[in-house]
Amino acid sequence: RVVHLADYRPTDFVLERVDLTFELDPEDTKIESRLIFHRREGADPQAPLVLDGDELTLSGLLFDQIEMDADRYTATASSLTIRDLPAAEPFEVTVTTIINPTANTKLMGLFRSNGIYCTQCEAEGFRRITYFPDRPDVLAVYTVNIIADKEANPLLLSNGNFLGGAGYGDGKHFAAWFDPHPKPSYLFALVAGDLGLVEDTFTTVSGREVALKIYVEHGKEPRAAYAMDALKRSMKWDEEVFGREYDLDIFMVVAVSDFNMGAMENKGLNIFNDKYVLADPETATDQDYAYIEAIIAHEYFHNWTGNRITCRDWFQLCLKEGLTVFRDHEFSADQRSRAVKRIAEVRHLRSEQFPEDSGPLAHPVRPTKYREINNFYTTTVYEKGSEVTRMIATLLGRDGFKKGMDLYFDRHDGDAATVEDFVKCFEDANSVDLAQFSLWYNQAGTPQVTVSSAYDEKASTFTLSLEQVVAATPGQPTKEPMVIPLSFSLLSDDGTVLTPSSVEGGKVAGDVLQLVERSQTFVFQGIASRPVLSLNRGFSAPITLHYPQSKDDLAHIARHDSDLFSRWQAVTDLALPALTAAARNAASGAAVESDDALADVVVAIAADESLEPAFRAQVLALSSEADIARELGSNNDPDAIHAGRQTVLASIAAHGEQTFKTLFDTLNAAGSAYSPDAAGAGRRALRNSALLYLTFVEKSPARAAEAFAKADNMTDLSQALSILAHQFPDAEETRAALASFETRFADNALVMDKWFQIQATIPGDMALDRVNALLANPHFKGENPNRVRSLIGSFAFANPTGFNRKDGAAYDLLASQVLDIDGRNPQLAARLLTAMRSWRLLEPMRADKARNALMRIESAETLSVDVRDIIERMLQA
Ligand code: ARG
Ligand code: ZN
Repeated sequence: RVVHLADYRPTDFVLERVDLTFELDPEDTKIESRLIFHRREGADPQAPLVLDGDELTLSGLLFDQIEMDADRYTATASSLTIRDLPAAEPFEVTVTTIINPTANTKLMGLFRSNGIYCTQCEAEGFRRITYFPDRPDVLAVYTVNIIADKEANPLLLSNGNFLGGAGYGDGKHFAAWFDPHPKPSYLFALVAGDLGLVEDTFTTVSGREVALKIYVEHGKEPRAAYAMDALKRSMKWDEEVFGREYDLDIFMVVAVSDFNMGAMENKGLNIFNDKYVLADPETATDQDYAYIEAIIAHEYFHNWTGNRITCRDWFQLCLKEGLTVFRDHEFSADQRSRAVKRIAEVRHLRSEQFPEDSGPLAHPVRPTKYREINNFYTTTVYEKGSEVTRMIATLLGRDGFKKGMDLYFDRHDGDAATVEDFVKCFEDANSVDLAQFSLWYNQAGTPQVTVSSAYDEKASTFTLSLEQVVAATPGQPTKEPMVIPLSFSLLSDDGTVLTPSSVEGGKVAGDVLQLVERSQTFVFQGIASRPVLSLNRGFSAPITLHYPQSKDDLAHIARHDSDLFSRWQAVTDLALPALTAAARNAASGAAVESDDALADVVVAIAADESLEPAFRAQVLALSSEADIARELGSNNDPDAIHAGRQTVLASIAAHGEQTFKTLFDTLNAAGSAYSPDAAGAGRRALRNSALLYLTFVEKSPARAAEAFAKADNMTDLSQALSILAHQFPDAEETRAALASFETRFADNALVMDKWFQIQATIPGDMALDRVNALLANPHFKGENPNRVRSLIGSFAFANPTGFNRKDGAAYDLLASQVLDIDGRNPQLAARLLTAMRSWRLLEPMRADKARNALMRIESAETLSVDVRDIIERMLQA
């Protein structure tokens, strides 16, 4: 049941090659798999061959082409065991299975989406196609033959290079593919059906021409242009920045509409959730464009970090995911505004990963045990994993990091590697010891760093005392001190940087100090005037910092730091006390005093033309309700947090009315043709935040309704709609806008997802009724993961007041939905359930209701392993 890292051992048999023949049929697909094995040197000569299966039935088994005696094997739905195998010489096993892709609602293995055959094999989906050693350290070369009805499936695709194909007399045809790069089964892919094609080429740095093909539903070809552009930019960037060239003659991307996750990096044949491929100004927001760019890059970058070098076992998932997220973050930072990108990353990390790391589902970046690996595709593995990679780069510097990466590519190309292998490359290339640093992979929990400082004018010294604590997490009651790289700057009165003549007390390299003890004191010598310390600049370490700085000092950082991220952080630190105080006051019924100093700073930044618009919009966005809840700690009342935050927004709005009017009018008038680039996106973001603030002053839906009517792109249109819906849910203007949006986009599933999402996130007690009504809406499709996430996921993850209704009825709705969805798509159900991972932090009445709903799930008669794993961890004391 439970898989442990410590139990890893290599397979007894080495797989030499794989020949697959698929005879596709919507309900009766036949797969013949010829596998050539030999026993591994030194392996037990008696050991049987055990192949994995999942819901399979065996319909044929040959040994060296001859039917195998029934007493030599045992087949169950989940395994095929073959005995009496040769001690040394290679042998061939031919396995035949028959599966029903149409009935495959789990969307793992081979399934159909909108009439298209497609696969998802990571992590353990290949075993739903055929019996196989379905683990990432079994690498083999694959030949794939696909036979299918020609009219329904003109397109037959698999990994690698196209070998050839031809028609048969009976209306069928076949295609053969050969992938010369040894790969694990999770990177296998097959696509068949009738799709439209967008083509381009890319010439690699060494002059090879690669055919680029993006397949989408017929008629949607124009919406794949941006993805193609992002792909070409990704290929170039990986050559320039990481020295990585593409290695096949063809690179394909296929967009499908039913997909459990974002996308999948199958060798040479990436399969995407179409949400992350399709875009045009009329139907996609700036956020959609940014995601497409990032995910196209992410999957492409996996070709080296994931495919050429893969994972030894699934415990090493962060080896490919954390690293590849880091690579896609760097790519987007280079394509857009680095600082704004960093702010968005940190916001995301804090709102998604920090709660995970402090709740019942906390686990190390590299876990040591799992019951269901699908539940470990988490923001800890991905985003914290990326931050850990970033810290290596921070500690070793640009060149040291590059040396380590080059060694990694050199040393491990073709390997199924481990986190230790990866770390060792940085150690060897830089002659450093990263043993203590590696705790970041093994210890769960967000380090809390408490800081105090003192300035001694006579001695010209600045003393900094730091203390780190990592709270207990499930299975890890005590923790060792970590290596915490903290980028810092000492700002003088006039904003210039003070450089110490020397530093005592620990390691400091350039502008990064290393906290490595539980508590440590650094003394900076030769500091001529009292400095203002800016710490953890650029978010150099994924920690929570507790450093009580005065409002004046924060305002000083907000004005003077050369790191824009730190300026944003300083404003956030200024605003957070006002937001938490407002929440407390709302809870106790006390009047909220407006904080003019805060409003001054925020409005001044909004008006500051020397700052890029996207940055100003990030400042105006303030902390989310979830951020405020986290700051308040436990005993959370979401209604009070919401009400308090609204009053702070209103007071900033009143204070800056003129600024917001001017901003809105000038940005509106600037109206040039839409372009999805970062600068245009930033202007729209600023304009739309100005619009939001103005509605607080005007207390009328008129301006948003007008913006809705005039919008010529989906960013402005959906922002106007969401302001209408969220601020004026009962207004006639809102009803009309929702109806017109629905009529206009009824045929566009991705846009209708937005329509569901906007309504599911309208705050307040009425949200539940709205969600129930939307569940019964003819547009709601319970089989489509995007639609389920847009309605139920948005409600549970992104509507704190609506979801946390006092009577607990929304928890019950989620419980019922999870149980229902679990019957067809366990992965999706388990993911939705994690929305309740912070239930213990709610005030007691709500927490009690939440527990009841969770216990109802736990006591259900049948639960998937996925949901059982999550529910049991969430309820554990
Ligand atoms: N490797 C894919 C990616 O990050 C995601 C696969 C997710 N698989 C899963 N079983 N949840 O690009
Ligand atoms: Zn990935």
